[in-house]
Amino acid sequence: MSEQHNQHSLVHANIDADDIGHNTSNNPSFDQILAVRLSRRGLLKGGFSLMAASVLGAGLVACGDDDNSSNNNNNDNNNTNPTSLSFTPVAKSLADALVIPTGYTATVLYAVGDPLNNNIAAYKNDGTDTDFDYRAGDHHDGMYYFGLDTSTNKYAASNADAGLLCMNHENMTQIFLHTASEAATARTAAQVDKEIAVHGVSVVDIRKSGTTFQVNKASAFNRRITAATTVDMSGPAAGDDMLFTKYSPTGLQTRGTLNNCANGYTPWGTYLTCEENWAGYFKTNTASLADGKEKTSRNRYGVAATDGSYGWANAMPADDKCARWNITATGASAADDYRNAANTFGWVVEIDPFDATSMPKKRTALGRFAHEGCWPAKAVAGKPLVFYMGDDSRNEYIYKFVSDALWDAADVGKGVAAGDKYLNAGKLYVAKFNADGTGSWVQLTLSNTSIATYTTYTFADEADVLINARLAADAVGATKMDRPEWGAVNPVTGEIYMTLTNSVSSSSGRGVKTALDAANPRYYADTKGTATNKGNVNGHIIRWRETGDNHAATSFQWDVFLFGAQADADSNINLSGLTADNDFSSPDGLWFSQASQGLLWVQTDDGFYTDTTNCMMLAAIPGKVGDGGTKSVVNKAVPTNANADQTVTTYMGKTLATTQLARFLVGPSGCEITGIAETPDGKALFVNIQHPGEDTTSLTDPAAFQSHWPNGGTARPRSATVVITRNDGNKVAV
Ligand code: FEO
Ligand code: CA
Ligand code: CA
Repeated sequence: MSEQHNQHSLVHANIDADDIGHNTSNNPSFDQILAVRLSRRGLLKGGFSLMAASVLGAGLVACGDDDNSSNNNNNDNNNTNPTSLSFTPVAKSLADALVIPTGYTATVLYAVGDPLNNNIAAYKNDGTDTDFDYRAGDHHDGMYYFGLDTSTNKYAASNADAGLLCMNHENMTQIFLHTASEAATARTAAQVDKEIAVHGVSVVDIRKSGTTFQVNKASAFNRRITAATTVDMSGPAAGDDMLFTKYSPTGLQTRGTLNNCANGYTPWGTYLTCEENWAGYFKTNTASLADGKEKTSRNRYGVAATDGSYGWANAMPADDKCARWNITATGASAADDYRNAANTFGWVVEIDPFDATSMPKKRTALGRFAHEGCWPAKAVAGKPLVFYMGDDSRNEYIYKFVSDALWDAADVGKGVAAGDKYLNAGKLYVAKFNADGTGSWVQLTLSNTSIATYTTYTFADEADVLINARLAADAVGATKMDRPEWGAVNPVTGEIYMTLTNSVSSSSGRGVKTALDAANPRYYADTKGTATNKGNVNGHIIRWRETGDNHAATSFQWDVFLFGAQADADSNINLSGLTADNDFSSPDGLWFSQASQGLLWVQTDDGFYTDTTNCMMLAAIPGKVGDGGTKSVVNKAVPTNANADQTVTTYMGKTLATTQLARFLVGPSGCEITGIAETPDGKALFVNIQHPGEDTTSLTDPAAFQSHWPNGGTARPRSATVVITRNDGNKVAV
């Protein structure tokens, strides 16, 4: 979520947890670092809106004046890495349309409300629809394609014709889920039920149909997991008294998964969904709590919304479904109320898509924070499995989990039982980025004296360290980052990339309250209309290489792969030399193709360059850590430097040519582009268009909605998955 998410709610102002810094620790990272380092193309013209709005599947605009016959590295050999991009970049766009390159076709596969079986009526999209337990949820986000062997109904990683598409439904555009009269009043219990059900995850059986894909509505695999589904707690914190609730007095279960942002997958064929901005959904009395561990923990996690983002706890009748969102202590003990309910969110959740009856499991060994996603390093037989994770709030940290169990390919297909083996025991680390271009991983455990003797919060045991991982990371002086979003592991080099989307705040932003450092080196002013935003406005993408190319290593070398910027910005801002063909702001989604190894996709969730362009997706052929050398960044009038100029030395990748970094897609009005998957042959790309039209504030005049994508006319806009294929049938982008 980003700055754009401020207008979800008609009744209750949404708390944008991404946009609130809760890290008040005095981590020495920047002090140490600074002590050392102070020192259009006009292609989209007439008739565009007309093309942009007609029927489902319209609003898809191909542009570009070149054919793509110059493709020089397309092939079906997975062992050959592309060296350049083959498509013609698309221009920035403010149209209410999905813009893709010439020679490509996009079709809508799965939009909010689409039925998951043949018994559910078609989506009317007028606010009266119900049955979201059997329809696509809202705000499509992270997703993954699991190949399906249709004869055995088992995982078949290489099958490009049939698959189970697992996808997150992060949040909702509340206004479009209700009728005009409902939207104008407080939520009823029935409306809360609907809102709870549009959150969560879809498992969708999809089959190749001609050159694209269709949902197989007859499939028994189709499944919704919502914010009401029963989920097991597993790992070291399962059963901890801080997880006791009236629903599960032993702390072994909870209901639902919430604000499922990005994702991951396991080598044994299960899906990982990650709980990001769960903190704001709860009705709390945190401010009036007595000082103590509970208050310290809630403040550190931003659990502070008076009524909750959507007022769920206030709906009548106040039965358990609604009351469970109120975390005020009302009973005799934690087993009598929901004071601990928020502690059962903020986890990585494992789902077996191949068993529709299996219960999801929250994996507490991977720590509790605002999980963006959970990205696996390549599994190697006999080695631990490693997963990289980001905590997406301003000034939060980057983590990794290293399993105790060693990988055995015989576990493929064993579902959550394999998860019990690999994801319930291991080491959780947090990252420090040093000023000299090195970095280290610090294990979060009571064996670390800084954690054992931390005075801000006294950890009871290792479970407490996991439940309050942010506080443990504070204790060891982890490096505050500019909002870690998605990560991705380069299948060719093993290097890890992670987006740092931006950090802009007059109270806690980079350069304002949080000092600049080598890994987060920019503070500058950017104008948007009459507004001026200051900080790291456009974000960057950091990357690192583990020592010895060992993912379990405790040290690494890092640099910045790309700095976001508008192409016409000062050279101290546009450090990566971006051009009109590839300039971007606020990188968020990030993903390496497996079929075209070394091809990287970057998606944006932006609110700062949106006076010029809607959010977008770019393709890149990256180099490797250290290929660009050092860079001195001159920052003007930095508040944390007494409003003086400040030069920070950083490390960055080489400047990429347009053939190595190019804009592939621009979305419709008001959307973010987030979530990407491919068929294992690299010939079909699945991309999620999240919350088109989300800045719409009134249902009164449908013609005035911010977007009508994808249905066009005066339709309400819908989040949706699109399938993108190349008209010549070859691999996408290379
Ligand atoms: Fe849900 Fe950090 O994006
Ligand atoms: Ca600007
Ligand atoms: Ca995101």
